[in-house]
Amino acid sequence: MDLEREFIMVKPDGVQRAHIGDIITRIERAGLKIVAMKILQVTREQAEKHYAVHKDKPFYAGLIEYITNGPAVAMVVEGRDAVKHARRLVGATDPHDALPGSIRGDYGLNIERNIVHAADSVENAKTEYSIYFDEKELIVYTRIDEAQLYA
Ligand code: CMP
Repeated sequence: MDLEREFIMVKPDGVQRAHIGDIITRIERAGLKIVAMKILQVTREQAEKHYAVHKDKPFYAGLIEYITNGPAVAMVVEGRDAVKHARRLVGATDPHDALPGSIRGDYGLNIERNIVHAADSVENAKTEYSIYFDEKELIVYTRIDEAQLYA
């Protein structure tokens, strides 16, 4: 079985708009297991590492400002094809393109305030969660429904 770890963040607008609980519910309901989670104030240094790939984009300065501007919730989730699955739950980057039923499709209007982030590959997930978590903060446990999820 291909178990993957994915990094997900409820961004400051998602926290301010009280969507933390709903986003966690969607993740759990899908069968993805939360193995680490914290609410934190993202520092400029963390944000610059996280979004280094966008450094030369015109929206970079605004993105750093946005992600550091209030508390966010960072989490690591684990499951079969976790990256693909989480990104389908999250929806397209631009909420205008995100399908209803996805988090951004249900709650977003604005690409600059798109509520949630999910890493786009297993490698990037590891790079990103390592900015916010020590490896020892990732908890190893078995969910009672795994026998059905992975039958
Ligand atoms: P995220 O999934 O966190 O990955 C990079 C972020 O950059 C993205 O969500 C948006 O918040 C932001 N972003 C991507 N494209 C644009 C754009 N064209 N204009 C403004 N922000 C963008």
